[in-house]
Amino acid sequence: MALCEKNVADYCQNKNYCVPLYLLSVKDINTQTFDNYMDIKENISLKAYNTFGIDAKASMFVEYDTEKGLQQLLESGLLQSNPFLILGGGSNIVFANDYRGVIVHPVNKGIISEKECHEAYAGQMQGGDNPDMDSNHVFVEVAAGEVWSDFAWAMTRKGYYGLENLVEIPGNVGAAPVQNVGAYGVEAKDVIAYVVAYEIETGIKRVFTNKECKFGYRDSIFKNELKNKYIVFSVCFMLSKTANSKTNYSALSKMLSEKGIATPTPLQIAECIAEIRGEKLPNPKEVGSAGSFFKNPMVTYSELEAIQQHYPDVVSYPIGDKYKLAAGWLIEKCGWKGRTLGNAGVYPKQALVLFNNGGCTGNEVVALATAIEADVESRFGVRLEKEAIIIN
Ligand code: EPU
Repeated sequence: MALCEKNVADYCQNKNYCVPLYLLSVKDINTQTFDNYMDIKENISLKAYNTFGIDAKASMFVEYDTEKGLQQLLESGLLQSNPFLILGGGSNIVFANDYRGVIVHPVNKGIISEKECHEAYAGQMQGGDNPDMDSNHVFVEVAAGEVWSDFAWAMTRKGYYGLENLVEIPGNVGAAPVQNVGAYGVEAKDVIAYVVAYEIETGIKRVFTNKECKFGYRDSIFKNELKNKYIVFSVCFMLSKTANSKTNYSALSKMLSEKGIATPTPLQIAECIAEIRGEKLPNPKEVGSAGSFFKNPMVTYSELEAIQQHYPDVVSYPIGDKYKLAAGWLIEKCGWKGRTLGNAGVYPKQALVLFNNGGCTGNEVVALATAIEADVESRFGVRLEKEAIIIN
């Protein structure tokens, strides 16, 4: 059920605000229509705003840190009349060229509410199918512009269970429901209660239940039928005050038993996860990358069998009636692990990660990805799908 709090469609009818980007300068916008609930810059470098560290430029760059700022942005008509891109932590994006449009960078921060499990949200939880309305759960609603890992660590330190496997994932909270981030056996969908988002066209606020988000593997309604239609303002998580961690991912269970931890706290699990990630994945502070560059591809049993005839050690996991292949393994088998092409490279410890080997451009990343895709397809007959989004 959608909860419509405020209908500002009337504002959007005001065509005075809908001036094409190329006709406006920042000065015009600031002086014409707005108070300063949002900050608009022109022609700025995006290098600090994407984890790959690609030095592309944006024609216009808008930030807001309050709900009022977001409402004002939507009332302005700027997004209705120009190409736009909502940029969270920039951790899953490659700018192949300069961006000729409006980059929206939400920087609203903080915990909006923290409530004991209560009836107000009962109907919305998990689409209403498993509200689990007991005193063991807590609902924490957090602003979209908050840094994901800071939030996950903060909840973990409070002793809440649910986000401990998801610490250290780069990016912001607002992106978590869009691409259903996941790691070590847990996905955001397992803990998201609901998502608060604004419809860009009308400015109407809506609450999406977990079920309405139509989560899939690195996928949601916000990447499909509602792509570019909504902007996430906040996300509410249902966390547990009693142990319910998933520790069966092999690297995690191995580390816990090596450390002799039989009943781990969320903080102990998070610390193991940080250690495991540190062994395989580049430190975002030191190496530019977009995390996993490709999704793990799904194949049918007969496709798997065909691959196994030549490669009996292919890494696969059954998912329903299909099989998920480890893309990192496929790429490694094609000899790409640790190799570079121009200034873009394949991370030596995890072949699913492409990285910036120093001053690399978006086009160099795309060239490397294309070469890898071609090799994997010709060797295994499997087409890799990018997890990272290429912005042309
Ligand atoms: N493997 C290789 N060579 C490699 C990398 C992986 O052979 O270079 C094989 C290994 O057999 C390994 C298996 O692939 O056991 C799986 O590797 P790993 O556990 O590293 O996980 P992944 O499937 O490569 C996914 C996510 C990661 C997440 C890890 C852990 C995707 C696209 N990626 O990687 O997410 O951290 O699982 O849960 O699903 C991200 O999205 O940015 C990301 C890092």
